[in-house]
Amino acid sequence: MCSIIGIVGDSPVVHRLLDALGRLEYRGYDSAGISVTNPAINLGDTGNFLTWRSVGRVKELSKKIDLSCKSTVGIGHTRWATHGKPTERNAHPHTDGFLSVVHNGIIENFSELKTELIQSGIVFQSDTDTEVLVHLLSKYIKKARNLYEANSAAEATKSPDDIRRTILNDAIQNVLKKICGSFAFAALCSDFPETILAARSTSCPLAVGKGINEFIVCSDAFGMAGLSSELHYLDDYTYAIVSRRNLSVFGFGGEKASTRFYANPFKQESSKPEEQTHYMLKEIHEQPLVIQRLLDKVASEREIYDISSEVILDAINGLTLTACGTAFYACMIGRYFLQTVAGIRTDIELASEFQSAQISARDDNRPVLAVSQSGETADTIKALAYAKERGQKIFSIVNVPQSSLARMSHKVFYTHAGPEVGVATTKAFTAQVFVLLSMAIEFSKKNYVNFPSEALPSRDDFRKVVGYMTKTLSLDSQSIDISNSLFRHAKNILYIGRGLNYYMCLEGALKMKEISYIHAEGVAAGELKHGPIALIEDGTPVVVLAPFDDLFAKTMSNMQEVAARGAKVVLITDEIGMKHVDQSIVHSAVMLPHTHKLLTPLICAIPMQLFAYYTALARGCDIDKPRNLAKSVTVE
Ligand code: F6R
Repeated sequence: MCSIIGIVGDSPVVHRLLDALGRLEYRGYDSAGISVTNPAINLGDTGNFLTWRSVGRVKELSKKIDLSCKSTVGIGHTRWATHGKPTERNAHPHTDGFLSVVHNGIIENFSELKTELIQSGIVFQSDTDTEVLVHLLSKYIKKARNLYEANSAAEATKSPDDIRRTILNDAIQNVLKKICGSFAFAALCSDFPETILAARSTSCPLAVGKGINEFIVCSDAFGMAGLSSELHYLDDYTYAIVSRRNLSVFGFGGEKASTRFYANPFKQESSKPEEQTHYMLKEIHEQPLVIQRLLDKVASEREIYDISSEVILDAINGLTLTACGTAFYACMIGRYFLQTVAGIRTDIELASEFQSAQISARDDNRPVLAVSQSGETADTIKALAYAKERGQKIFSIVNVPQSSLARMSHKVFYTHAGPEVGVATTKAFTAQVFVLLSMAIEFSKKNYVNFPSEALPSRDDFRKVVGYMTKTLSLDSQSIDISNSLFRHAKNILYIGRGLNYYMCLEGALKMKEISYIHAEGVAAGELKHGPIALIEDGTPVVVLAPFDDLFAKTMSNMQEVAARGAKVVLITDEIGMKHVDQSIVHSAVMLPHTHKLLTPLICAIPMQLFAYYTALARGCDIDKPRNLAKSVTVE
């Protein structure tokens, strides 16, 4: 959730740390901070970092910083609070003067460690778990240094670099033995002002990038866009000692670990949206392009979603899909595709519940397919790791290349949606739906099924859907009207639909609540009468999602039921559906192009996203960075 950046090089770092934090802000934005080694002061035990911290966004931090600072070594952080409120005293970096630390994740045993440290006389300055790291690292570095000095006669032949490595290795290994949890951190130390010490256990990603005469430590590749074209992802349970020209990586026990550099997929920063607009809107509008790109890939690189025979054999007895949030709704849609089109028995499991749910399925050796935009969601990583430990094959559908999920999977299917910055996912979702459908069709073609091939979307259907998505985007004036006149003042919005449309309702409601802060609920239309219909009072907006299909008539009956109880019905249907509707009970309608049933999620996603976007806009919400959320959820 939080993000970490560190640069150790020859050129001033302050501007570049701030720029990187701006890019990384999507991972957390409660507070931000930077520490640099102070070029004007001789470092020693007494305090010699320049540290600036601020509550709120990076732009608040930049107002406080001395931008003329020439320091060439520094670390920075944006925070998503776990332990301790989002105040300045809890903002990172945390420093005791000798050491400065930025941290992502959780030190699970921090409270025992804190008690021990307090008993040894240390006074804590913050409520964070991070601060135990500062005091432990300080303690063990000083201890290792003293030990070295006591033995210095015997070690006289060592070079300054060897001395630095000996002390830091010794200290960090001791600290890593004491702490547990899922974490990543980077630290600066006064004794070694041209070094960054970085470590990660599991779930919280950390990479080291090569720059020009410098190394960069960062929680993701996007943060390093424009700083580094090649990067090494630190494996689980490894640490790195990083200086200007040297990178040494070790396992937690001190064993040397190898490095493998990948091209940074984010060489150029993703272009910022125009003034007054948002990444979310930009990304909603990119969806036809993304689907076109995927179609082109499928046409030109036939094997892209071709399920190799190995995967087919693995999945023939069934498949479990797992993910969180919107990606989980993509899994619900994926299950529908895989079961109906390909005849594959498919279970779905929320990644955060995966382990508890699977524990009873002792002999389950079916493969697990995880779906994730970021590839860094801690719950999803944990679920896959658990399945892998049990000997299950693991596959993933991921957007961010070389992300943790991609690296741990036996096979990865990329969504190629490009960088997604808005916290609420949009284009990555439709890309996931496309990939799941393409996989299901591939399975089906391999003849494991009885789904009639004429019932599959044709090439022409696929080709047309891109145009339909573009056409749907052009209907945004209707979404603006409905959002301004109806949703904006609502306390409660229900979304109802059946089959695939029910899953889309869950997604539509999630989008609405996360960015507009209006309570919204997706309900299977047939379930209304079993409880949720009690929520309807005079004027409650109910979005009815019903493109014309085999379930249309039933959904229309449910629409009558809610209208009879005073709901203001917002109907999303298509040209054919519109001809069959009792318009007298509809408050507003959005008419979509009619398409093949299996392709409807790609189109229906758009009005749902636009409703949420324009409602949040009308309510003055912070659309790209909704409160309490972060783009990559790297804590469980
Ligand atoms: C909702 C949203 C989240 C993510 C979820 C999983 O708009 O963005 O619900 O879908 O946190 O994230 P990824 O896909 O990165 O694993």
